[in-house]
Amino acid sequence: MLEEKQLQKRTGNLVFKNAWDYDPAPESSGHIQLRETYDLFINGEFTAPEEGRYFATTNPASEQKIADVAEATKPDIDKAVQAARNAYNKTWGKLSGRERGKYIYRIARMLQERAREFAIIESMDGGKPIRESRDADIPLVAAYFFYYAGWADKLQYAVPGVEPKPYGVAGQIIPWNFPMLMAAWKIAPALATGNTVVIKSAETTPLTAYKLAEIIQDAGLPPGTVNIVSGAGETGAEIVNHPDIDKIAFTGSTDVGKLIQKSLAGTKKGYTLELGGKAANIVFEDAALDQAVEGIVNGIFFNQGHVCCAGSRLLVQEGVADKVYHKLKDRIETLIVGDPLDKNTDIGAINSKSQLERINHFIEKGLEEGGEMHQSSAEVPSNGYWCKPTLFRNVSQSHSIVQSEIFGPVLAIQTFRTPKEAVEKANNTPYGLSGGIWTDKGSKIFQMGQNLRAGVVWANTFNKFDPTSPFGGYKESGIGREGGLHGLLPYLKIN
Ligand code: NAI
Ligand code: MG
Repeated sequence: MLEEKQLQKRTGNLVFKNAWDYDPAPESSGHIQLRETYDLFINGEFTAPEEGRYFATTNPASEQKIADVAEATKPDIDKAVQAARNAYNKTWGKLSGRERGKYIYRIARMLQERAREFAIIESMDGGKPIRESRDADIPLVAAYFFYYAGWADKLQYAVPGVEPKPYGVAGQIIPWNFPMLMAAWKIAPALATGNTVVIKSAETTPLTAYKLAEIIQDAGLPPGTVNIVSGAGETGAEIVNHPDIDKIAFTGSTDVGKLIQKSLAGTKKGYTLELGGKAANIVFEDAALDQAVEGIVNGIFFNQGHVCCAGSRLLVQEGVADKVYHKLKDRIETLIVGDPLDKNTDIGAINSKSQLERINHFIEKGLEEGGEMHQSSAEVPSNGYWCKPTLFRNVSQSHSIVQSEIFGPVLAIQTFRTPKEAVEKANNTPYGLSGGIWTDKGSKIFQMGQNLRAGVVWANTFNKFDPTSPFGGYKESGIGREGGLHGLLPYLKIN
């Protein structure tokens, strides 16, 4: 029988007698087929790296190595770009939109068939809970491929009056927080518009991209249409600076985004940058508070806070501030931190040791600067990288944890009195990717939505994605949009 405190932990405010702890319910990874070594996927074949260098990718929940992965250097990027150029000139670039669409639909269907395998590998390599990779990431990946497959033969309606032409070869660099989803956001519109691709996965999460390479092979895409490489920043820079690449798409940190923008200044390359964020969830007194608390929890603790549009700040109207804080405290006490493959897990492993260090650095800074911290009493495994859900009160605009993108499960809580003050505080950041409004009044939603300087503003919900909807930032959160009709435009030459 559980102690009362444990009972409370499992059930929130309600204490049921005779309740029990959940048994572990781990997803089996026994049937997952992974190679010991992954080579680069160039010109339709897995190809050993020219300089013979490999690096390990580990499981952040166990710190165990999963596989060795090739590190692409300049000669490999040259080969990959050459393969993409050939495919653009001779095969993929010559296909009609209708034919391209067929291939992209095929990829989408094959992804659906192998969804479970992809979800498990995503969770093993990156640390995110299986519930998220299974219910959010991978279904969305298929949805984005389906959506853009539908555009392939309708591009003349995307840009009426102009004959849309592809750029040519697209160089794409993706982060570790949504490895497959970011690959889909980049590859699907590029293919729909007739471009060919050289894409680099992030150094801690290369595996699902290579699984996607298997699907691309099986789907019979002309060799060279999609080339997939792995490596760290230097490999990324080789893509950015390659003279035969026509367009760059990057998702990652604002610091690297700025570097890329500098490298591209004065070149003819087109680019889109999807960078950091510091979104505020704004909760008014008239909001449905329990729903708001669920939204806040989803907004910052979802995927360990490794989300560029995470609701990492909470602005709550003074009259309900204490109430919301206590509800949040109760709610985070029920969150289960642990094995990403366990279906009960709410918060998985932090993606890497260095990311955990970065989060801990900000937590220490928050304390040094006088913030009042509360962490849940969750038990965390002894191996692996973990961070308990963390709340900070008594913080103001100048505090680092209010200003900086932490990319972890850390929520900075502030209060406001009037809508005007909420807008001022919400906008007082170098970023502008997303925001959330919680209120009973439609008029407030419109008023706030117009004044928030953010690419996406959710109302009475958070972190909702749909392939038809454009996504991207204001200010230092980036340039250009991905998703929806808008996401086609960066892959087309339209003037
Ligand atoms: P990062 O920006 O270094 O990595 C993202 C991708 O860019 C990776 O594939 C990496 O290999 C590549 N890259 C790194 N340097 C490059 C360069 N000079 N040229 C071309 N490509 C390069 O991000 P990192 O270091 O993994 O994370 C640090 C912080 O960045 C996080 O704590 C978070 O705040 C932020 N971040 C934001 C993301 C977002 O979705 N907006 C995604 C990942 C990180
Ligand atoms: Mg890994």
